[in-house]
Amino acid sequence: MVNFDAKNELQDHSEAKVKLLGEYLKRFLNIISNDGYTEKINMYDLFCGPGLYSNGGYGSPLVTLHNVKNAYYNIINNKVNKVPKIDCYFNDIDDNKVEYLKKIIKEKKLHYPNIGNLYFTSNDYRNEVIRLKETISKYKNEKAFIFIDPCGYKELKADDIKELIGKNKKSEVLIWLPIQFMYRFSGEATPDVLKNFILNLNIKNEVQKSENVWDFIYALKKGFQNHLGDNYFVDNFSLKKEENTVFCLYFFTSHIKGYEKMLESKWEIDTEEGRGWNYKGNTPTLFFEQKTNKLEDLLMIFIKSGKRSNYDVYEFTLRAGFLTKHATEVLSNLQKTSKLDVFLFASNEKARKNSFYVKYYRPNDNEKNKVYFVIK
Ligand SMILES: C[S@@+](CC[C@H](N)C(=O)[O-])C[C@H]1O[C@@H](n2cnc3c(N)ncnc32)[C@H](O)[C@@H]1O
Repeated sequence: MVNFDAKNELQDHSEAKVKLLGEYLKRFLNIISNDGYTEKINMYDLFCGPGLYSNGGYGSPLVTLHNVKNAYYNIINNKVNKVPKIDCYFNDIDDNKVEYLKKIIKEKKLHYPNIGNLYFTSNDYRNEVIRLKETISKYKNEKAFIFIDPCGYKELKADDIKELIGKNKKSEVLIWLPIQFMYRFSGEATPDVLKNFILNLNIKNEVQKSENVWDFIYALKKGFQNHLGDNYFVDNFSLKKEENTVFCLYFFTSHIKGYEKMLESKWEIDTEEGRGWNYKGNTPTLFFEQKTNKLEDLLMIFIKSGKRSNYDVYEFTLRAGFLTKHATEVLSNLQKTSKLDVFLFASNEKARKNSFYVKYYRPNDNEKNKVYFVIK
């Protein structure tokens, strides 16, 4: 008999969270299962909860299983040669919730043994991190996706991400953080756990300077990025529902191509500051109001500070959270207004107009350094 009352757990459920998780998983599974290399994908949900809430809302395990099933049948339909197995691991310290989840999966017939196995545990997250780190370090043709959705942030340490991503770059981590709550408590009477988190990421000054929740989100992103180093890519999906509720997922990956795909989806669904790309160049209006564009400013500074190749600009643009098409638009406008010259590395002659080559190249591709940019 499962004595778990789903009604009490409604506050853990948020439609925004599972929507973002679903969007992420759709893309992630599509990229990994088509890489022609991965034989097994391991999906870990370390704070899985009961799966279904009394208002009928799906929790992360059901969203995961739903996306796994869709991804699997997409692969089959696309006749990809290698169809990876997809195993799912659900963990929650409360074994009543885990039992409830098992029951729901059975009732709703959500387990497809031909896709992969399901595993259930009720361990403490801290022990799971230690165990997983060990498991992932032994991966060969396997990949892990790890979803971390704690009740608050007290269980979480910034170092966990480093441990879970490990050195062999076989995993991706997605963390849900109660950003609004953290931001509210990041002022005067900051709780110790949050203080440690902020100290661990070395972002005390940035947090103090944050004027709003978006600054805080960015400070955390920068902190994570510095903490992990240049071999990793960090970004966040955020969603603003009402004035005082901002939801935010941080994702961590070591693959620039995968990161680019995630940025593309982010630009599709991210509603941060009602943001959308609207660039018409920085032409002064009749009243000389100069409307600035963040990417243009960033690119100008970056290009001025060294001999930057097309691949440098590609990586820089993505790390700044923008897409290659945005960079190309900015470069094109700068060239049109005679603020930018583009030269071929091979001859130092000017490249053809509107040829910027800002895109992904494989590590050994010579075209990575085809042109360089000069701000006049
Ligand atoms: C925010 S809820 C998870 C909600 C779930 N991901 C969803 O989408 O429905 C957090 C869960 O973490 C569990 N939990 C709390 N402390 C934990 C710990 N130290 N280790 C593992 N699970 C823990 C709680 O029982 C709770 O179900």
